[in-house]
Amino acid sequence: MTTIVLKDVTKSFKDHPIINGVNLTIEGNACTALVGPSGCGKSTLLRLICGLEEPTTGEIYVDGSCVNRLPPVARGIAMVFQSYALYPHMTVFDNMAFALKIAGCSKTDIARRVQHAAKTLKVDHLLDRTPKQLSGGQRQRVAIGRAIVRHPKAFLFDEPLSNLDAALRLQMRYELARLKAELNTTMVYVTHDQGEAMTLADTIVIMREGAIEQQGTPLELYRSPKNLFVASFIGSPTMNFLHAIIVAWQDDQHLNIRLRSGETLVVQVPYEALKWKESLLEEGSELTVGIRPENLTEASSRRKQAGTHLKGRVSLVENLGHEAYVYVSLPVGEHVKVRLTGNCNYAIGRDISLFLRSEDCHIFDSNGEAMRGLKEIPLC
Ligand SMILES: Nc1ncnc2c1ncn2[C@@H]1O[C@H](COP(=O)(O)OP(=O)(O)OP(=O)(O)O)[C@@H](O)[C@H]1O
Ligand SMILES: [Mg+2]
Repeated sequence: MTTIVLKDVTKSFKDHPIINGVNLTIEGNACTALVGPSGCGKSTLLRLICGLEEPTTGEIYVDGSCVNRLPPVARGIAMVFQSYALYPHMTVFDNMAFALKIAGCSKTDIARRVQHAAKTLKVDHLLDRTPKQLSGGQRQRVAIGRAIVRHPKAFLFDEPLSNLDAALRLQMRYELARLKAELNTTMVYVTHDQGEAMTLADTIVIMREGAIEQQGTPLELYRSPKNLFVASFIGSPTMNFLHAIIVAWQDDQHLNIRLRSGETLVVQVPYEALKWKESLLEEGSELTVGIRPENLTEASSRRKQAGTHLKGRVSLVENLGHEAYVYVSLPVGEHVKVRLTGNCNYAIGRDISLFLRSEDCHIFDSNGEAMRGLKEIPLC
């Protein structure tokens, strides 16, 4: 069980800062997903961990020992690249065996390890082929197999599935989840795919501009994003944001707020927000209300529902069969996406009335920071 710790790590390329003081503990026997916009430093962080780059300042510890001065080969950490990086002239067997040969392993040991990894990854019938005789998914498996045979302390995956088509990605995602359970090892997984991060990771780390924005379990990040950036990054389709202002304090725990569309709602203010955000919670202050597409429903004309109604017009419907994303334009120039289950045959331009409950709303102050603890959505 290998734990990796990054302590105040920075990295600059020619005085240009890329990683800005990262402190991170990567727990052993768990999968940590690194996500963030393109260029935020995810690959650089992986390269620092495996030793392909040296930190400008700070330390990296593997199982308690500082590895700053250790070359990649001595760190015992395997990296799987998006581009597979297989040797084109070698067979699958030789690609997988290469690192073991360099390390001086015996022929029998190499054969045993390669056979075992190839079987696990279901490429044991392809060992005599060269990479160009393989499909993308098979190449990716060989690249993973090449990492597995080394019995590394940890695996670093840099967008391993992004070159595959949608169906193959799903299949490989399933196989990676199986592998994760089987190998019971430390994994760091960089991805742009929300589904991969949410389903494979025990912990998600969200990065922005070379720094960690928030870290937590997938559901923690989904339910309690700490700011607008995280809220807009996690969840697909993304969270809706509506402008609002504070009308008045209803009592010492509840704010009366008004959306731009004129609708009002009462939101509970957590105790901790009261302590340090008083100046941001005065009457007339601006807020952002965040609401996930699945928390908006079409208002029922038959039942009286306690909550807020938004009137709008359908501007687009994306029908996926089992669910539909309905895009609604509000009269004030704002737009929301609604996730509805089933097959929805809404005509474009049709009027629609939406219903939202204040307890489903995320509230962000004018600095974009969430009022933490506002809602504790119970686990199912
Ligand atoms: N060797 C290098 N020299 C100079 N700049 C570099 C070098 N490697 C990376 N960078 C810069 O560092 C920044 C972060 O790059 P990095 O590859 O880590 O981003 P990323 O988060 O992995 O992005 P993506 O999601 O697109 O893969 C980028 O602006 C990139 O241009
Ligand atoms: Mg990258």
